[in-house]
Amino acid sequence: MKDNNFFGLKLNREFFIKFSRLIKEKSGLFFDLSKMYFLETRIKKRMQERGIRDFVSYYNLLKTDYSDREFKELLNEITIHETSFFRLNPQFQAFSDFVLSELIGKKRDLNQPYLTFLSAGCSTGEEAYSIAISVFEKIRGINKIVDFSVLGVDISVSVIEKARRGVYKERELEGMPEDILAKYFEKVGDNYKVRDFVKEKVLFKYANLYNEEDMSALGRFDTVFCRYVLIYFDEMAKMQVLDNLYSAINPGGYLIVAPSESYNISDRFAKVSYKNSIVFMRPL
Ligand SMILES: C[S@@+](CC[C@H](N)C(=O)[O-])C[C@H]1O[C@@H](n2cnc3c(N)ncnc32)[C@H](O)[C@@H]1O
Repeated sequence: MKDNNFFGLKLNREFFIKFSRLIKEKSGLFFDLSKMYFLETRIKKRMQERGIRDFVSYYNLLKTDYSDREFKELLNEITIHETSFFRLNPQFQAFSDFVLSELIGKKRDLNQPYLTFLSAGCSTGEEAYSIAISVFEKIRGINKIVDFSVLGVDISVSVIEKARRGVYKERELEGMPEDILAKYFEKVGDNYKVRDFVKEKVLFKYANLYNEEDMSALGRFDTVFCRYVLIYFDEMAKMQVLDNLYSAINPGGYLIVAPSESYNISDRFAKVSYKNSIVFMRPL
């Protein structure tokens, strides 16, 4: 039932600042005053879920809950999860034609090269599975045994669950070439499920890119995709996230961000242009 008193609640500027500071402190995510209404509606949704009727009590709950359970629930509401398979196709072309060729070339002397990939801010899994499919397609054409794994991490636990299921609606696969669809997905009812041999290569888990400890626990990767994530941080938090990503990349490995995010990337990375795309390399 609609609770009129509840819906009449308004987040004032003072409390908006308190909430946005707390969110920034815990996740790095930055909400400026233009997001006041957005934050208010999401916070109120969580308050209603918990039966909490004032902002002070909800703020205190977030502040004192050391398990961060409620904070993670709030994060599910305030993170933007837009994504798609092979989003920004030219970047996937650059990944396949340039990055993968380079990496496989560099590992040429190993008997069985093993490559590791990270989808940082993986949302519902489309990016991580696109990476795996690109690698399968690449190694199909070369006379070499290459093994690999992809890890997808996100701060929102609800998207990780969907990513793990690997089941997508037809409209979520729009534009996927027929042969790729047939090879890597099976039809289950009205939906498409990522085939098991692809799922075996892809793992998903919770990690906060802003948190040094979370990130160092993930290990090292030959390529990190971190696209449409940096835009949600302010400059200071973005630097912290880039530092964490730098440490997570093997020397000679690559970072791929969205084109709109490729400005002010730490100059510890070398910028490499390939056709119309830019990738960043952690120097050897
Ligand atoms: C817009 S989606 C981008 C998904 C995918 N990278 C793509 O480009 O299609 C951004 C994702 O980053 C996640 N995210 C935001 N802040 C994060 C953080 N501090 N740590 C990990 N993931 C984060 C969000 O939960 C969301 O799923």
